[in-house]
Amino acid sequence: MAYYLGIDVGTSGTKSLLIDATGKVLAEAVAEYPMHQPKPGWTEQDPEDWWQATVATVRKVVRKAKAKPADVRAIGLSGQMHGSVFLDAKNKVVRPALLWNDQRTVAECDEITQRAGGRKALIKMVANPALTGFTAPKILWLRNNEPRKFDKVRKVLLPKDEIRRRLTGEFAGDMSDASGTLLLDVVKRQWSKKLLSKLELDPDLLPPVFESEQVTGQLTAAVAEELGLSTDCKVVAGAGDCAAGAIGNGVVERGVLSTSIGTSGVMFVHSDQPEYDAEGRLHTFCHAVHGQWHMMGVNLTSGGSLQWWIDNVVQGLAGIPKGKRYEAATAEAAEIAAGSGGLSFLPYLNGERTPHADPSARGAFVGLNLTHTRAHMTRAVMEGVVFAMRDSLEIIRSLNVPVDQIRVSGGGSKNPLWKQMQADIFGQNVVTLNAEQGPAYGVALLAAVGDGAYDSIGEACKATIQVKEQTKVDRKAASAMDALFPIYQDLYVALKDSFQKIASLQ
Ligand code: XUL
Repeated sequence: MAYYLGIDVGTSGTKSLLIDATGKVLAEAVAEYPMHQPKPGWTEQDPEDWWQATVATVRKVVRKAKAKPADVRAIGLSGQMHGSVFLDAKNKVVRPALLWNDQRTVAECDEITQRAGGRKALIKMVANPALTGFTAPKILWLRNNEPRKFDKVRKVLLPKDEIRRRLTGEFAGDMSDASGTLLLDVVKRQWSKKLLSKLELDPDLLPPVFESEQVTGQLTAAVAEELGLSTDCKVVAGAGDCAAGAIGNGVVERGVLSTSIGTSGVMFVHSDQPEYDAEGRLHTFCHAVHGQWHMMGVNLTSGGSLQWWIDNVVQGLAGIPKGKRYEAATAEAAEIAAGSGGLSFLPYLNGERTPHADPSARGAFVGLNLTHTRAHMTRAVMEGVVFAMRDSLEIIRSLNVPVDQIRVSGGGSKNPLWKQMQADIFGQNVVTLNAEQGPAYGVALLAAVGDGAYDSIGEACKATIQVKEQTKVDRKAASAMDALFPIYQDLYVALKDSFQKIASLQ
C-alpha cells in the first residue's frame, strides 16, 4: 500500500488525514488547542500544543486506517502562515509564538518600510508591503521589545516548519509559506539578502527553502516509533495553509478562484507570473505549484466572527448545548430574508488586513431597529463576513484577473446558508468539490507527488478533484445584497476615526 499523510497546523486545532494514492481519504482526526490573547490585538500559541496535537491526530489516523508503518510513504505539512517560532541554540522556544492575526507590530512595519527605502522599494524587494501579521515585523518586535530573548534566538520558523523540525530534526521551509514572512524575494524564490541586510537580520536565522513537493527529510527513529510510522517516511516541504488549501481545491490554473472560510477568510487566485495590486491590498506570494504564483486577499476574522458571536452572545442567551450551537444559530438566520432587514455588521473584531490594512479597525453592528432579532444579527454577521470577501473579489476583478469559476471551501462550503450567500453576494454561481478537507488534503497530495505517485501537482489535482455541485445566484437576493454592499463599504470609511480612538483607549 502507498498512503500519504497530510498535517495542517491550524489556529483552532491541528488536522491530520491519510489518503491512498488515488486521493481517497482513509481517516482523519482533529485535536484542538487554545489561542491566547494577552492583550487586545495580541494573539499567541504554544508550539508544544501544536506538537501534542500532531502526535495525537497522526496516531489516531494511523490506527483508524489500520496502516502498517511501511504503508505511509510520505508526509505533507501545512499550517497557519506568518507565525513566529523563536528557537534558541538548544531549539527551545524563547517565548510563545506570535500568530498571523497578531496586531502588535505597527511600529515595526513603519521601521521596515523606512529601512527598505519606502513602500515602493520594499514591494520591489519582496513583492508586498509590511503588514502587521507578517513574520519580519514580529522578529523586529522581539528585538525592540524583548532584546534579551532576541539575543538568544538562533532560528525563526513558521508553525508547520517547527513541526517539521520535531518530525525530522531538519530546518526547512517552502516558498509559499516563506512568502508571508516578508523576507522572501517572491519573484526569484529565494530569501532576500538585500532586505535582510537592510533590517540587520542574520540570514542564518532562516531555514533553507524548497519547492512544495520536494523532500526535506525523513522521520527520526524516536518519532517514527512514537507515531507508528517508519524512518523511511519522507517529509515534503508542504505549503502555507492558503496555498495548501488552494491545492486541495484544485486551484492550479488561471481563471479559477477559491474562497475559504476558516478563522480567517481567504480569496485566492492562481497566476502564471507574479502579478500585483499596485496599492498592495492583495498579497502576491509564491504558489505551492513549482514556479507559479498567486494573489490573495485575507480577512482576519471570518469564521472567527461567527464563532465569537455564537460563543459569547447567542448561546449564552438561548442555553443551547455546545455541539448544537452553530446549526441552531445558522438555521434561524436562514429564515431571515437576504439583507438582514437593513442591518450591517463589520467583521473587523481583531483589526483587518484586506482591503483595509488597519490594526485599529473594530467590529460593529450598524442599522439596528426594534424589529431586529437575534436571527437578524446572526445573519448580518454572516453577510458582513462575505461582504468583506467581496471587497477582495472586487479588487481581483478590477485587475482584470479572470474569475471564470469560484470554488468555495471550509465553513463556507459546508453550511448551505453561507454557500448561497457567497453566490448572491459575489453575484456569480459558486461550486463545491468532492474533496472537502482543505489544506491537509492539499499537502497529502503534495506528499504523493513528492513520492512519485504523480508527475506533477496539476496531474494529482486533475486525478483527484472534481466539481460536485453548483449553487446558483438567487437574483432577488443578489440585488438586495448589491444595494447593501456600498453601504457596507461606506461604514468603514465613516467609522475609521472612531475605531482609531477606541483602539487608543485599549
Ligand atoms: C494568510 C493568513 C491566514 C492564516 C490562517 O495570509 O494570515 O489565512 O494562514 O491560518
